Amino acid sequence: MEYTAAVITMSDKGSQGLRTDTSGPAVCEMLKENGWQVMYTSIIPDDFETIKEELIKCADDLSVCLVMTTGGTGFSPRDVTPEATHAVADREVRGIPEAMRAESMRITPMGMLSRAEAGLRGGTLIVNLPGSEKAAKECLAAVIKPIKHGIDVLRGQSHDCAQMHKKDKEGHHHG
Ligand code: MTE
Repeated sequence: MEYTAAVITMSDKGSQGLRTDTSGPAVCEMLKENGWQVMYTSIIPDDFETIKEELIKCADDLSVCLVMTTGGTGFSPRDVTPEATHAVADREVRGIPEAMRAESMRITPMGMLSRAEAGLRGGTLIVNLPGSEKAAKECLAAVIKPIKHGIDVLRGQSHDCAQMHKKDKEGHHHG
Protein backbone atom coordinates (compact mmCIF):
# COMPACT_ATOMS: atom_id res chain seq x y z
CA MET A 1 0.00 0.00 0.00
CA GLU A 2 1.12 3.55 -0.74
CA TYR A 3 1.22 5.85 2.26
CA THR A 4 0.10 9.16 0.79
CA ALA A 5 0.13 12.47 2.63
CA ALA A 6 -0.75 16.14 2.30
CA VAL A 7 0.91 18.93 4.30
CA ILE A 8 -1.09 22.12 4.90
CA THR A 9 0.47 25.19 6.51
CA MET A 10 -1.91 27.59 8.26
CA SER A 11 -0.46 31.07 8.24
CA ASP A 12 -2.02 34.45 7.42
CA LYS A 13 1.43 35.91 6.69
CA GLY A 14 2.74 32.85 4.86
CA SER A 15 -0.32 32.72 2.60
CA GLN A 16 0.30 36.36 1.60
CA GLY A 17 3.97 35.76 0.90
CA LEU A 18 4.97 37.93 3.89
CA ARG A 19 6.75 35.06 5.69
CA THR A 20 8.68 32.06 4.38
CA ASP A 21 7.21 28.83 5.68
CA THR A 22 9.94 26.48 6.92
CA SER A 23 7.66 24.17 8.95
CA GLY A 24 5.76 22.76 5.97
CA PRO A 25 8.95 21.77 4.08
CA ALA A 26 10.48 20.31 7.29
CA VAL A 27 7.37 18.18 7.88
CA CYS A 28 7.45 17.03 4.21
CA GLU A 29 11.09 16.04 4.61
CA MET A 30 10.42 13.99 7.76
CA LEU A 31 7.45 12.26 6.14
CA LYS A 32 9.52 11.33 3.08
CA GLU A 33 12.33 9.99 5.27
CA ASN A 34 9.73 7.75 6.91
CA GLY A 35 8.37 6.29 3.67
CA TRP A 36 5.47 8.67 3.04
CA GLN A 37 4.64 10.04 -0.38
CA VAL A 38 3.76 13.74 -0.06
CA MET A 39 1.27 14.36 -2.87
CA TYR A 40 0.04 17.83 -2.02
CA THR A 41 1.15 20.89 -0.08
CA SER A 42 -0.45 24.30 0.43
CA ILE A 43 -0.24 27.44 2.54
CA ILE A 44 -3.59 28.91 3.52
CA PRO A 45 -4.76 31.74 5.84
CA ASP A 46 -5.99 31.08 9.39
CA ASP A 47 -9.61 31.15 8.29
CA PHE A 48 -12.08 28.60 9.66
CA GLU A 49 -14.03 28.03 6.42
CA THR A 50 -10.90 27.96 4.23
CA ILE A 51 -9.25 25.40 6.54
CA LYS A 52 -12.37 23.22 6.54
CA GLU A 53 -12.60 23.30 2.73
CA GLU A 54 -8.90 22.43 2.38
CA LEU A 55 -9.17 19.49 4.80
CA ILE A 56 -12.28 18.19 3.03
CA LYS A 57 -10.52 18.47 -0.34
CA CYS A 58 -7.53 16.47 0.92
CA ALA A 59 -9.71 13.78 2.51
CA ASP A 60 -12.58 13.43 0.03
CA ASP A 61 -11.08 14.45 -3.33
CA LEU A 62 -7.38 13.61 -3.02
CA SER A 63 -8.12 10.70 -0.62
CA VAL A 64 -4.69 10.91 1.01
CA CYS A 65 -4.08 8.60 3.96
CA LEU A 66 -2.72 11.40 6.14
CA VAL A 67 -3.12 15.18 6.34
CA MET A 68 -0.58 16.95 8.53
CA THR A 69 -1.36 20.57 9.35
CA THR A 70 1.12 23.03 10.84
CA GLY A 71 0.18 26.17 12.75
CA GLY A 72 -2.91 27.78 14.17
CA THR A 73 -3.00 25.64 17.32
CA GLY A 74 -2.17 28.35 19.87
CA PHE A 75 -4.18 31.00 21.73
CA SER A 76 -4.26 33.80 19.16
CA PRO A 77 -7.85 34.71 18.20
CA ARG A 78 -6.95 33.63 14.63
CA ASP A 79 -5.77 30.15 15.76
CA VAL A 80 -8.68 27.92 14.70
CA THR A 81 -7.01 24.87 13.12
CA PRO A 82 -8.17 22.47 15.91
CA GLU A 83 -11.77 23.74 15.64
CA ALA A 84 -11.78 23.30 11.84
CA THR A 85 -10.27 19.81 12.22
CA HIS A 86 -12.91 18.89 14.80
CA ALA A 87 -15.66 20.22 12.52
CA VAL A 88 -14.71 17.99 9.57
CA ALA A 89 -13.77 14.82 11.51
CA ASP A 90 -16.15 11.85 11.93
CA ARG A 91 -14.17 10.49 14.87
CA GLU A 92 -11.65 11.99 17.29
CA VAL A 93 -8.21 10.50 17.82
CA ARG A 94 -7.18 11.68 21.28
CA GLY A 95 -4.05 9.58 21.74
CA ILE A 96 -2.01 11.32 19.05
CA PRO A 97 -2.22 14.84 20.53
CA GLU A 98 -1.83 13.33 24.01
CA ALA A 99 1.44 11.73 22.90
CA MET A 100 2.62 14.91 21.19
CA ARG A 101 1.96 17.05 24.25
CA ALA A 102 3.51 14.50 26.62
CA GLU A 103 6.68 14.44 24.55
CA SER A 104 6.66 18.23 24.08
CA MET A 105 6.40 18.74 27.85
CA ARG A 106 9.67 16.83 28.27
CA ILE A 107 11.28 19.52 26.08
CA THR A 108 9.44 22.69 27.15
CA PRO A 109 6.47 23.56 29.40
CA MET A 110 5.25 25.66 26.43
CA GLY A 111 4.16 22.33 24.96
CA MET A 112 0.93 22.59 26.95
CA LEU A 113 -0.06 25.66 24.93
CA SER A 114 -0.66 23.78 21.69
CA ARG A 115 -4.36 22.88 21.34
CA ALA A 116 -3.59 20.42 18.50
CA GLU A 117 -6.21 17.78 17.71
CA ALA A 118 -6.37 14.72 15.47
CA GLY A 119 -9.35 13.07 13.83
CA LEU A 120 -10.52 10.64 11.18
CA ARG A 121 -12.59 11.61 8.17
CA GLY A 122 -13.42 8.54 6.11
CA GLY A 123 -10.12 6.87 5.24
CA THR A 124 -8.03 9.91 6.14
CA LEU A 125 -6.25 10.77 9.38
CA ILE A 126 -5.85 14.51 10.06
CA VAL A 127 -3.20 15.56 12.60
CA ASN A 128 -2.48 19.13 13.76
CA LEU A 129 1.08 20.21 14.54
CA PRO A 130 2.15 23.53 16.10
CA GLY A 131 3.47 26.20 13.75
CA SER A 132 7.14 26.71 14.54
CA GLU A 133 9.54 24.44 12.67
CA LYS A 134 11.11 23.24 15.93
CA ALA A 135 7.75 22.46 17.56
CA ALA A 136 6.32 20.82 14.43
CA LYS A 137 9.34 18.52 14.08
CA GLU A 138 9.35 17.58 17.78
CA CYS A 139 5.65 16.74 17.74
CA LEU A 140 5.81 14.79 14.48
CA ALA A 141 8.79 12.77 15.73
CA ALA A 142 6.72 11.70 18.75
CA VAL A 143 3.95 10.11 16.68
CA ILE A 144 5.20 9.33 13.17
CA LYS A 145 6.00 5.62 13.64
CA PRO A 146 2.70 4.23 15.00
CA ILE A 147 0.60 6.24 12.53
CA LYS A 148 1.30 3.76 9.70
CA HIS A 149 -0.25 0.90 11.66
CA GLY A 150 -3.28 3.12 12.32
CA ILE A 151 -3.62 3.77 8.59
CA ASP A 152 -3.34 0.02 7.83
CA VAL A 153 -6.24 -0.66 10.18
CA LEU A 154 -8.25 2.37 8.97
CA ARG A 155 -7.92 1.22 5.36
CA GLY A 156 -8.63 -2.45 6.10
CA GLN A 157 -5.07 -3.60 5.32
CA SER A 158 -4.58 -5.06 8.79
CA HIS A 159 -6.76 -6.08 11.70
CA ASP A 160 -3.98 -7.98 13.31
CA CYS A 161 -2.56 -5.88 16.11
CA ALA A 162 -1.31 -9.07 17.80
CA GLN A 163 0.99 -9.73 14.85
CA MET A 164 2.28 -6.15 15.12
CA HIS A 165 2.95 -6.58 18.86
CA LYS A 166 4.85 -9.79 18.15
CA LYS A 167 7.07 -7.98 15.65
CA ASP A 168 7.53 -5.19 18.20
CA LYS A 169 8.81 -7.70 20.77
CA GLU A 170 11.21 -9.19 18.25
CA GLY A 171 12.63 -5.71 17.76
CA HIS A 172 11.39 -5.12 14.23
CA HIS A 173 10.35 -1.68 13.13
CA HIS A 174 6.86 -1.36 11.73
CA GLY A 175 6.02 -0.40 8.23
N1 MTE B 1 5.74 21.86 21.24
C1 MTE B 1 7.02 21.52 21.15
N2 MTE B 1 7.35 20.23 21.06
N3 MTE B 1 8.02 22.43 21.14
C2 MTE B 1 7.73 23.77 21.22
O1 MTE B 1 8.69 24.57 21.17
N4 MTE B 1 5.97 25.49 21.39
C3 MTE B 1 4.65 25.78 21.97
C4 MTE B 1 3.56 24.80 21.64
N5 MTE B 1 4.07 23.46 21.40
C5 MTE B 1 6.37 24.17 21.33
C6 MTE B 1 5.38 23.15 21.32
C7 MTE B 1 4.17 27.14 21.81
S1 MTE B 1 5.21 28.37 22.34
C8 MTE B 1 2.89 27.45 21.32
S2 MTE B 1 2.29 29.04 21.40
C9 MTE B 1 2.01 26.37 20.82
O2 MTE B 1 2.76 25.20 20.54
C10 MTE B 1 1.10 26.74 19.65
O3 MTE B 1 1.81 26.96 18.45
P1 MTE B 1 1.08 27.44 17.11
O4 MTE B 1 0.15 28.56 17.47
O5 MTE B 1 2.19 27.89 16.23
O6 MTE B 1 0.33 26.29 16.52
